[in-house]
Amino acid sequence: MKIVTLLASPRKNGNTSLLLNEVLKEIKDENIEVKSYYLNGLNIRGCQACYACKKSDRLCVLKDDATEIIEELTKADRVIIATPVYMFDITAQLKRLIDRLFCFLKEDYSSKIAPDKKVLWLITQGNIDKNRFKSILENNASLMNFIGFGENRLFITENLRTPGDVLKREDVLLSAKKEFEWLIKK
Ligand SMILES: Cc1cc2nc3c(=O)[nH]c(=O)nc-3n(C[C@H](O)[C@H](O)[C@H](O)COP(=O)(O)O)c2cc1C
Repeated sequence: MKIVTLLASPRKNGNTSLLLNEVLKEIKDENIEVKSYYLNGLNIRGCQACYACKKSDRLCVLKDDATEIIEELTKADRVIIATPVYMFDITAQLKRLIDRLFCFLKEDYSSKIAPDKKVLWLITQGNIDKNRFKSILENNASLMNFIGFGENRLFITENLRTPGDVLKREDVLLSAKKEFEWLIKK
């Protein structure tokens, strides 16, 4: 099984990254291969609306650091998207990549990719109300499903500000690990 992880926080040692790492520690099976991307460190342009991906079966014709990620996502069995909430939504680093996934849609907007992938969203936020941005985040998950990624699940952790705080939340870590079990289940 191949898992692609996308870390969308600029803070390499922030709570989003820590949560992602805790979850990945659950991997005991050596047949699970993980390919990880720290989006903030990559050169990813926004979609240029050339529509080349609609005129043929080709994926995105722009060549930058998204090229490899797009390729890896086509091969992935599972995806983990780890993002903090920024301004009520996902981070710009992630949004830029997701726009490029427009290339997974054919001219008739059906998907070019196999629908047997699952996506786990690990989301962190400062606000104490876990449901405050849920509808916006669900829209992002629904978009990934529309693009062809199969079942998407959101795991939202509230009230996080100082890096390291998430490691003190044993209940959160336990629940996140349960979500990961769901992710890797066949
Ligand atoms: C630019 C910016 C915008 C933010 N916007 C929100 C927001 O709209 N709602 C919220 O609850 N937290 C917001 N936060 C707080 C982060 O979501 C929260 O602290 C998160 O856990 C940070 O993750 P990190 O430690 O991985 O950086 C914002 C933080 C920054 C830097």
